[in-house]
Amino acid sequence: MTANINLPDTVMEWPAKYNEIPKAVFEEPSLWRLELDNIFYGEEWHPIVHRAEVPNPGDYKAAFIGEMPIFAVHGDDGRIRVFHNACAHRGAALVTDNAGNKADFECPYHRWLFSREGALVGCPNSHEFSPSFSKEKFGLKELRAEAFNELYFVTMSDKTPDLLTYMTGAVADPLSRVLGSGHGLKLLGYQKVHYDCNWKAYVDNDGYHAPLLHLAFKLMGWQGGKGEQIVTENGHLAFDSELTIPSKIDALEDSSIVQFKGDPDSKGSIVVSTFPVTVFTKHMDMLNIRYAFPKGQRGVEVHYAYFARDDDSPELLAHRTRQSANLLGPSGLISLEDAAIFTRIDLGNRSPGNAIFQKGVTDEYKLAFNVKQNDESGNLPRWEHYRKRMGFRRAKA
Ligand code: FES
Ligand SMILES: [Fe+2]
Repeated sequence: MTANINLPDTVMEWPAKYNEIPKAVFEEPSLWRLELDNIFYGEEWHPIVHRAEVPNPGDYKAAFIGEMPIFAVHGDDGRIRVFHNACAHRGAALVTDNAGNKADFECPYHRWLFSREGALVGCPNSHEFSPSFSKEKFGLKELRAEAFNELYFVTMSDKTPDLLTYMTGAVADPLSRVLGSGHGLKLLGYQKVHYDCNWKAYVDNDGYHAPLLHLAFKLMGWQGGKGEQIVTENGHLAFDSELTIPSKIDALEDSSIVQFKGDPDSKGSIVVSTFPVTVFTKHMDMLNIRYAFPKGQRGVEVHYAYFARDDDSPELLAHRTRQSANLLGPSGLISLEDAAIFTRIDLGNRSPGNAIFQKGVTDEYKLAFNVKQNDESGNLPRWEHYRKRMGFRRAKA
C-alpha cells in the first residue's frame, strides 16, 4: 500500500489534533496513485447512474471510477448493468461519448459485437480462434452493483459491505428524500464543470461557509443552526436545513426563481455527501446529483444532473426546470462562488503547514459526531476515514 512511495513526513504522520489537516494532502502528486488503490478501487460504493438517466432499453451512460472507465446500460430485460468500458477482446474502450442509445455495442477495432446485456454476439473469423475460445467466455465484465431508490452504485471490491449497511440508516433517509421519496424521477439535463483544485478540496465544502461565501444562501436564510447535520464514521454527511425564503429578494429581478413550492418532505434544503466524492442536493424544489470525477491530483470534473419527479404537474415541472441550473451548478445562484474559492484553496495549500478547522470543535484531541447544522467540524470524521483508508499514522498527543 504505502510502502513503495516516498511521501513527505507531513502526510505520513498526521497532526495529533483531529482538527488539523496537512495541506500537503491536497498538493502531493504521488498521493493520487494511493487514493486510487485504497479508496476508489477499494471498499467504497460509487453512485453511477439513476434509472431516470437511462430510462429506455439501449440507453447507456459512461462514467469513471477513479481512472477506470465504466458504462451503465439498460438491457432489453429491464435490468441496468454496469460494465468495464473495455472490449473483451484486446481491451479497446467501447463507449467514447457520455450517453446515448444503442441497439448493440460494436468495438471498431476488430468489430466484436456485444448485446445490451453484455453478451458477445458476433466476432469476425471466429473459426480461426484459439481452441479454448467460446463466445460465452468473452462477455463484457460486469461490476458489482446495488441500487438504492433506483440509483445504482458500484464497487470494485468484493469485501465492501452491502449498500444499506455502507450508507447507514442516518444517511439513507435524507438521501431517499433527495431521490424523490419513492416517486420515480425524470432527468431534466446536465451541466458540466471543471474545478481547478484537488478533489478533496471540492468535497471539503462545509456547513460553516454556506451563508458566508454564498450571498444567495444568506438571503435565503440558510444559517443559524436551524436544522441538523448528520455525520457517520465512514465519511458520509447529511444536512437537513431550514430555509426562510423572503417573498421578495431585492437583488433578483424575479424572486419566483427561488420560490419554495414546498415538497413536504424537507424543511428547505437537504445536502447529502457520500464518501468519497458524490453530493446530492434538494434545495427547495431542485433535485440534483453531483457526480464528480477527479482528474488526478489536480482538477475535478463535476457533472451536475438535475431531476424532476415523474408525477409532477406541468406547473411544478416548469418550476423545477427553471430553478435547477439557476440555483445550483457552475452559474447557480447558491454555488457560483465555489469555483473561485476552490482555486484559492488550491493556491493557498501550496504553502506549508496545516489547514485548521475551528467551528464546532470542542476538543481538538477527540472526534465529535454531535455537530450542529452550520459547523465545519462535521467534515472531520470524513478526514479521519480518509486517513485510515490511506494508512497514515496519527502523531501522539
Ligand atoms: S479490441 Fe475490440 S474487437 Fe478487438
Ligand atoms: Fe459552497
